[in-house]
Amino acid sequence: MNKIKQSIEKSINKQINAEEFSARLYKSMASWCDVNGLPGCAKFFWAHGDEEMEHMMRFVKYLNNRGGHALFDAVEKPQQEFKDITEIFELANKHEEEVTKMINDMYAIAEKEKDYATCNMLQWFIAEQVEEEALFGECLDTIKCAGKTNIFLADQAIAGKE
Ligand SMILES: [Fe+2]
Ligand SMILES: [Fe+2]
Repeated sequence: MNKIKQSIEKSINKQINAEEFSARLYKSMASWCDVNGLPGCAKFFWAHGDEEMEHMMRFVKYLNNRGGHALFDAVEKPQQEFKDITEIFELANKHEEEVTKMINDMYAIAEKEKDYATCNMLQWFIAEQVEEEALFGECLDTIKCAGKTNIFLADQAIAGKE
């Protein structure tokens, strides 16, 4: 197979950085939950941060397998303070929607370049983003339904989600 095109290599390297940022954002949210009496939400976000690192590694391995070079750039500092858990899930939801857009844009580039191997690799991420958006949407609904009075029940429910 031909060496990966530069435009695609560049977009994958950008996504490697974005996935690492997602991991750090969710770990930052997990840490906030840890110190604000929400162990269930903390568990959810720690685990989700690990998942984002797995996403990152998928891109790293794919790019290197295709004759490219996966690069580790500086990672932006994630938000560290939050108003409340509703804000956290609203931000997480918005973030996943942005990631979906990034993946779709990558797909468009790969398609334009007729790089069908990359299209195929990205199919996994397209399906994954459907799952992620559904999951984070569910969590936000749970938090909103629970309100302040039932926050401990919502925290327990979210602990079991993955
Ligand atoms: Fe991801
Ligand atoms: Fe994600």
